[in-house]
Amino acid sequence: MLKTKYGRFSQDGTEFIITTPTTPRPWVNVVSNGEAGFIVSQTGGGYSWRTNAQVNRITRWEQDILKDDWGKYLYLRDNASGAYWSVGWKPVCATPERYEVRYGAGYVVITSRTQGIETEWTMLVAPEEPVELWKVTVRNVSRRRRRLSLMSYLEWGLGVAPDWHREFHNCFIETNYDATANAILATKRLWEVPSDNGHWNTAWPYVGFHSVNVKPHSFDCSKEQVLGRYGTTSSPQALQGGRLTKSCGNSLDAVSSLLVKLSLKAGQEKTLVYALGAAGDRKQARALVRKYRTPRSVDNALERTRARWDRLLSTTVVETPDTGLNLLTNRWLKYQAIAGRLWGRTGYYQAGGAYGYRDQLQDSQIFLAIDPEQTRKQILLHARHQLNDGTVYHWWHPLSEVGHRTEMTDDLLWLPFVVDAYVEETNDLSILDAVEPFADNPIPSTIQDHCVRSIDKVLSRMSTRKIPLIGAGDWNDGLSAVGLHWKGESVWLGQFLFFVLGKFAPILEARGDSERARRYRNESLAIREAVNTHGWDGQWYSYGTKDSGEKIGSRENAEGRVHLNPQTWAVISGIADHGRAQEVMDVVTKLLEHKAGPLLLSPAYRTQDEKIGYLTRYAPGVRENGAVYTHAATWAVIAAAQLGRADDAYRLFSKINPIVRGRAPDAYCAEPYVTSGNIDGPGSPFYGRGGWTWYTGSAAWLWKAAVEWILGIRASREGLVLSPCIPKEWKGFRITRVFRNATYHIEVKNPSGVSTGIQALVLDGKKAEAFVPAASTVLPILKSGTSHQITIILGRQ
Ligand code: GLC
Repeated sequence: MLKTKYGRFSQDGTEFIITTPTTPRPWVNVVSNGEAGFIVSQTGGGYSWRTNAQVNRITRWEQDILKDDWGKYLYLRDNASGAYWSVGWKPVCATPERYEVRYGAGYVVITSRTQGIETEWTMLVAPEEPVELWKVTVRNVSRRRRRLSLMSYLEWGLGVAPDWHREFHNCFIETNYDATANAILATKRLWEVPSDNGHWNTAWPYVGFHSVNVKPHSFDCSKEQVLGRYGTTSSPQALQGGRLTKSCGNSLDAVSSLLVKLSLKAGQEKTLVYALGAAGDRKQARALVRKYRTPRSVDNALERTRARWDRLLSTTVVETPDTGLNLLTNRWLKYQAIAGRLWGRTGYYQAGGAYGYRDQLQDSQIFLAIDPEQTRKQILLHARHQLNDGTVYHWWHPLSEVGHRTEMTDDLLWLPFVVDAYVEETNDLSILDAVEPFADNPIPSTIQDHCVRSIDKVLSRMSTRKIPLIGAGDWNDGLSAVGLHWKGESVWLGQFLFFVLGKFAPILEARGDSERARRYRNESLAIREAVNTHGWDGQWYSYGTKDSGEKIGSRENAEGRVHLNPQTWAVISGIADHGRAQEVMDVVTKLLEHKAGPLLLSPAYRTQDEKIGYLTRYAPGVRENGAVYTHAATWAVIAAAQLGRADDAYRLFSKINPIVRGRAPDAYCAEPYVTSGNIDGPGSPFYGRGGWTWYTGSAAWLWKAAVEWILGIRASREGLVLSPCIPKEWKGFRITRVFRNATYHIEVKNPSGVSTGIQALVLDGKKAEAFVPAASTVLPILKSGTSHQITIILGRQ
């Protein structure tokens, strides 16, 4: 399905199949069970981690998108001829007779055939335990007996990545071979995370293990022995002799290599199992190795992984005339948001590991329609990373708990934003009573108080004109110097605050704090007035002002004249009246929309402006400097749909849809099955090229744009809202959505070829007689545990 010269989706859409190792850029899969994980590229590159891909990386990897030459490798050697190659394409890069990489939710299978030997390498993480499993089948498809060596190779990282000062780190690593477990075990006596007294003075609290389920012929932990002096992974010295030296101990450049000999008759195959991970101690390492030593145990783990993902991905299923939209929303966007963003928090372009305060709160919206309890957990986690004064860590590292305080001004508002989204989904106000401490104050306080502190903090940072101060940046990180002196303003933040106040006031009302609710309403009116007076630039909303009072994102500016976010959020927040909302949406489609979607700003900055920030230092058309920034571009889809502009919404959606962009893979370069962070804008020589895939906040938002705004099925406290805003050509679509434990099977029919407007509603076969045609309707809340059929007929109202 949707085949290009590099790959295709499997017929059922659950796998992406890459058919050549030489895709335009590494096309990866981020595999995680929520605790342990690995990333792998189609060449076989990548790395493994536990809990935090940056402070607890198990194997070494350094970023080189072009060479992609760090990985955990398997080599095959024909012991008769001495010829060798690798099971993945890297690192030997022999030309395989056949090569296929299958990415599914939670697993990877690399199948290749070289010199009459076929290999199938399945990789996954056991769903419940911190252990990465490889099942490797080696099949002799030639006509003669083959004597082979299969050798694994990985470099131990064991802690903070990147391991830029290797000679320092080598001093602390110790490896040994455990013959009963057929395993190499690795420990490290230093972990570069601050211990209680603020210095590094603790041991890495894990035991690394790498094992195989048969007794290996030989093993090695010495890089010098495996690769040879001045050797390389593409031609390891060990493969010339076909043996490893059984070196291990201290003071080696520590690697892990296990060599197994195989003798296969023509047509014969053998399957081996490898385990890799970081266990709590040696005992746990041995127990994991023992538990997963048969191919069957790995098959079972794969079955459980599949079942887990199928459960997670099946709570909302759409069936529309757009195959790409279906594939993305049914599986891939959810998978990206959960595996890549919430669990792995890492990618090839940005190997993170930390939680971003605003980032993972936004990403956690993906769980609302799947398992809202997970969103709740995310909210509590972020509440614990708020400081007593209401500000928050911009990001923090799990495990080390090192957090970064900044003067970014929007981060904190995403807490009440997502709390509201959680309440809309569940109607469960009790979350506001949950208590959590602060990062700098152990005395717990309610989530309501955490939210109020966030909002009050932003309200305390307003200009005299009643527009929020931008400080060291708002959602747009690159506007890092606009308001360092606490004078510069953000019109966008005013819109966002207006939205949050509007959502939080009724929550406070329901909680009995009408006093504060009233104050928030009054504040929001004042902000609306200010944004519409001082933020209105004549034809669009400006972005704000610098500390000097000079405008940015204004017609007064030659560069960065118009920014996207203040236009889309003018609509989304409801701060603009109907006329202005239409006007700014026209600005989006006329001035910002290009072939690959709406640009974050235009024209790109060419003059570096130290009073705006590092955004202006990016090359023109790159990332926040005038690229299509997918995260923000999804808001344009939502704004258009909110205004009922179905053609605009669908066209904008399709332009940023990676499957659509990926139809021209050599121009787009990035993976077609996940969103990219950005697509180069017209100022760039690589206009249209996607990059920064996986690790960006766009997946959950693109899912919302498609399901909640184009298909128009979204949660509200009152019930499930239906307000389709679809292309006229669609004859209809179906969607199954679980909402408050009831299953809604919704069919939307469009007999008269309209985009919006509901004419009739049929619930479980009964026409709702009292139904008054409208652009949207709210379905009754159905009994938990039940399943219902809803049909709506679109038509002119
Ligand atoms: C990156 C950051 C995100 C920020 C965005 C725009 O995606 O992770 O927090 O909002 O860039 O600057």
